[in-house]
Amino acid sequence: MSVAIQTSDLNKVYESAFGGQDVHALRDLNLTVQGGEIFAYLGPNGSGKTTTIKMLLGLIFPTSGGIEILGSKDITSARVKRNIGYLPEGAYYPDFLRGEEILRYYGQLYGLRGAELSRRIDAVLQTVGMTHARKRLLRGYSKGMRQRIGIAQALISDPQILIFDEPTTGLDPIARKEIRDIMANLRDQGKTLLISSHELLEVELISNRVGILFEGVLRVQGTISELLTNREMVIEAEGANAQSLAALLGRGIATEDQIGNRVRLRVAEGMNSYEALELCKSHGLTLSGVHPRRETLEELFVRVVGAAEAERRLAS
Ligand SMILES: Nc1ncnc2c1ncn2[C@@H]1O[C@H](COP(=O)(O)OP(=O)(O)OP(=O)(O)O)[C@@H](O)[C@H]1O
Ligand SMILES: [Mg+2]
Repeated sequence: MSVAIQTSDLNKVYESAFGGQDVHALRDLNLTVQGGEIFAYLGPNGSGKTTTIKMLLGLIFPTSGGIEILGSKDITSARVKRNIGYLPEGAYYPDFLRGEEILRYYGQLYGLRGAELSRRIDAVLQTVGMTHARKRLLRGYSKGMRQRIGIAQALISDPQILIFDEPTTGLDPIARKEIRDIMANLRDQGKTLLISSHELLEVELISNRVGILFEGVLRVQGTISELLTNREMVIEAEGANAQSLAALLGRGIATEDQIGNRVRLRVAEGMNSYEALELCKSHGLTLSGVHPRRETLEELFVRVVGAAEAERRLAS
């Protein structure tokens, strides 16, 4: 798999205009986004996600370090520009335009004209499921519909790379699911997606790799399966009673759920799984299921950001 985006020791310092403190927004960032994946770029507010995205788009310039996109170090070239679609954070489009007019305008910015432009507009409306509303004014669109037009706008030049800054923020669960499905479909068509988000449950569902940024430093980067470790084990069993459950609790096996004599038990992290199963059997339980339980992305995020905050406190 080829590398779509690579930054090397990228730094960004925002210089203060009035003698205040400069903001070192990114420090030695080495970000790798592989072709054909959904990469989730995560981090608390102000950690530097939008700054990174703006540099990838050539909207602001690095203080030092390099960026390579689709094998090119010249990220302002027409080939690179045409191959990046961008959905800005909280994208705003004029209310008095129709969905298809917005797409026509952006298509023209990419030099599309005539039949080719019409064909692209039809295609992107289809991709985001907005063909039915193409002639309606944006004023009458729901937030989810606006966001879908925003994605259509990002797709107009048929780019290989899509950068979406908080694509689902402020949307209801149905609209979120729709946007998620669109993103997964784009990935399945071979597109590369870099998405920044605070919606960790959602990100865990669709992304292949994640990076977590804290105060301009990329603290972890890797695939979901590499980063989320199996932590505890869940046992489903029958034949439990109050005495057996109390005894098991004393040995580190907690009851998570109970319906009649059927229970779901959680085995403490680090406990030997064979020993746990034998203990349950020795207390008269009949086992019906055993499952490893993986750490969630939210737990990983809290762990990584918590450790970074603790380090900072120690350093100051
Ligand atoms: N134009 C600017 N001038 C000065 N400082 C800036 C500028 N833009 C961003 N910053 C600062 O750089 C840091 C990173 O901001 P950035 O917007 O990249 O974070 P973010 O991760 O996108 O945050 P959020 O999750 O809130 O969108 C913050 O400390 C911010 O205040
Ligand atoms: Mg941001």
